[in-house]
Amino acid sequence: MITIKSQREIELMAKAGHIVALVFEGLKDKIRPGLSTQDIADIAEKIIRDNGAYPTFLNYSGYPGAVCVSINEELVHGIPSKHRILREGDIVSVDVGATLNGYVGDACRTYPVGICSPNALRLIKVTEESFFEGVKHARPGARLGDISHAIQEYCEKNGYSLPREYTGHGIGSHLHEDPYIPNYGVAGTGPVLKEGMCLAIEPMVAEGHFAVRVLKDGWTAKMKDGKLSSHYENTIVITKDGYEILTK
Ligand code: MF3
Ligand code: CO
Repeated sequence: MITIKSQREIELMAKAGHIVALVFEGLKDKIRPGLSTQDIADIAEKIIRDNGAYPTFLNYSGYPGAVCVSINEELVHGIPSKHRILREGDIVSVDVGATLNGYVGDACRTYPVGICSPNALRLIKVTEESFFEGVKHARPGARLGDISHAIQEYCEKNGYSLPREYTGHGIGSHLHEDPYIPNYGVAGTGPVLKEGMCLAIEPMVAEGHFAVRVLKDGWTAKMKDGKLSSHYENTIVITKDGYEILTK
């Protein structure tokens, strides 16, 4: 069942979402070669806690990190480690959840580390753009498949592929609520969107083939072909005539 949030709940979601945005603001100028993925998680966790929130992912289904930090061919759920060091030319995605007063904000950004190849920068850009192509369709009366389809079409048109195992999701007092939001699909299908639905839309995009495998750590999802992947996510709410981003 997809829940409809009240005005009060949406305000609380926006407060949680704002803290997630503050993390990206704080990380923006700090990402550089030599930093460990644990350093990134520490910076993120401090901002989350300094703002009175809790890092949602910590202990979620046993996940051991405060945020997810995934480098290059790692698609999602990279576990922060002081032994994983960023190198010039890497791309790193930082997936952040913050829980405040019982409501959750969830978003992700992918950053270049130092000077990156044009290919890597294009992947990051297309991934972000695909989010906005998708949410162009976010309004009451539209179908969820309209969003999924637009993300898929835009990424594939640019020569990229969409992993199937990981999706966006409804969000609210829980990190993961109904519905699943695949990054591929058929327009005109799926649940009808209604004002007050809160959705985490998160294109995860692969430079090569979409096949993924999960490492022995039980979490880190990597592209099987070892090619780059990128991730961009925001939490949104469906409004009277469109949508609003809550992780801002
Ligand atoms: N943004 C991711 C998601 O929505 C992050 C979850 S990490 C987890 O699934 F550890 F909490 F699972
Ligand atoms: Co999410």
